Amino acid sequence: MPKKIVAGNWKMNTSLEDAKQLAQSLKENSHQDTSSKLVVCPPFVWIHAVSEILRESNISVGAQNCAATASGAFTGEISASMLKELGVEYVILGHSERRAMFEDTDAVILEKCKQALAADLQIILCCGETLAEREAGKLEDVLTTQLSAVLKGIDQLTSANLVIAYEPVWAIGTGLTATPEQAESAHGFIRNLLRELLGNETGEEISLLYGGSCNATNAASLFERDNIDGGLIGGASLKSADFLKIGNSW
Ligand code: 13P
Repeated sequence: MPKKIVAGNWKMNTSLEDAKQLAQSLKENSHQDTSSKLVVCPPFVWIHAVSEILRESNISVGAQNCAATASGAFTGEISASMLKELGVEYVILGHSERRAMFEDTDAVILEKCKQALAADLQIILCCGETLAEREAGKLEDVLTTQLSAVLKGIDQLTSANLVIAYEPVWAIGTGLTATPEQAESAHGFIRNLLRELLGNETGEEISLLYGGSCNATNAASLFERDNIDGGLIGGASLKSADFLKIGNSW
């Protein structure tokens, strides 16, 4: 069975004080018996403070991006190994906001994934279609292209270092959650693609998260589906009670 994971992508939100309070509240109110693995992904600059607060907890820390190179003259970049030193365990790569606004092409995302693995970070690899692509019947083509770029380019991917997040772009931050049927249909397709490219055993063990206006009200109806193993949560991850409720949606 794939691990159940609920990850919070804080994006470019929170002050330092907000971030510390959110981490503290999650630590105090999460129980050891939470039904899923919880991960929070704060902005880079708050990772150190958040990691210190969550050190003795069962909540892991992730980053929202990493550099495509290991070190050197790359002004403003943050390497995967720097994140590792701060206690980071996961890194979100290929998020649609980075694909759309920061020139994260499939080739760049592949390089970032290689850096993440070299630094022993677990990858949360995002994929998903725009509304225009869905309406043009290109959903499966888009998912195949985005995922194959990484899965065919790296040969040591396993359920221990790879998580997939399906995030339809039209559902992100819009309140237009995919229906459980739409999400499960895309997840089923991704599951088959993983089996094909990584073998049945690995393909069946990798956690598939849904992201896009997933919240404390709709999470349970999504997570009960066969191939939905949790969520990548944006807005609702900024409220401790909502995030913890999503984490206990099974
Ligand atoms: P929302 O939950 O705010 O729609 O964001 C989803 C997302 O992009 C998580 O990475």
